[in-house]
Amino acid sequence: MAEPTVTTLLSAEQITERVRELAKAISRDYVERKLVLVCVLKGSFVFAADLARSINIPVRIEFLGVRSYGEGTSSSGVVQITHDLSRPIAGEDILVIEDIVDTGLTIAHLLELLGTRKPSSVKVCALLHKPARSRVEVPIDYLGFTIEDKFVVGYGLDWAERYRNLPFIGVVGPS
Ligand code: PRP
Repeated sequence: MAEPTVTTLLSAEQITERVRELAKAISRDYVERKLVLVCVLKGSFVFAADLARSINIPVRIEFLGVRSYGEGTSSSGVVQITHDLSRPIAGEDILVIEDIVDTGLTIAHLLELLGTRKPSSVKVCALLHKPARSRVEVPIDYLGFTIEDKFVVGYGLDWAERYRNLPFIGVVGPS
């Protein structure tokens, strides 16, 4: 069977430029605060790594492992934590880093969960947003790109665990 083709939607250069802009805004907004980046695994690992390296104020980095019990390809909002934060976050300023907000159910659940741990603030930074699939209104405080309802891969995002290592974001097409 032939390999499916991947058509570029957002090039590595476009992503780099946008990530730098987001990091600049975050660095400015969180000066003199206690910023903790919470990287939601797995998809956010590439975005979080690039974003963190462009932020020029002190940050703590945490990882949250999440498994979403989906109905096929869409999430149900029932989220299981497979790896929890390594330390308490009370009194700290949390920025949840997501690769994509699709239905919004995952981030809605995470905001509720993190809010119970008494942080000073919780905000969201997402690289991609697909408003066409939104099922719940969620705040996205820092957003990279709004995209159409297409299945995207690369830059951390997978298709059956493949393509996470692509340096750009693309759409998987027919082979
Ligand atoms: C993706 C993404 C978000 C979630 C968004 O994770 O990283 O966590 O889906 O979808 P939603 O807005 O519809 O809830 P995925 O379940 O693909 O897991 P992965 O990050 O491990 O690839």
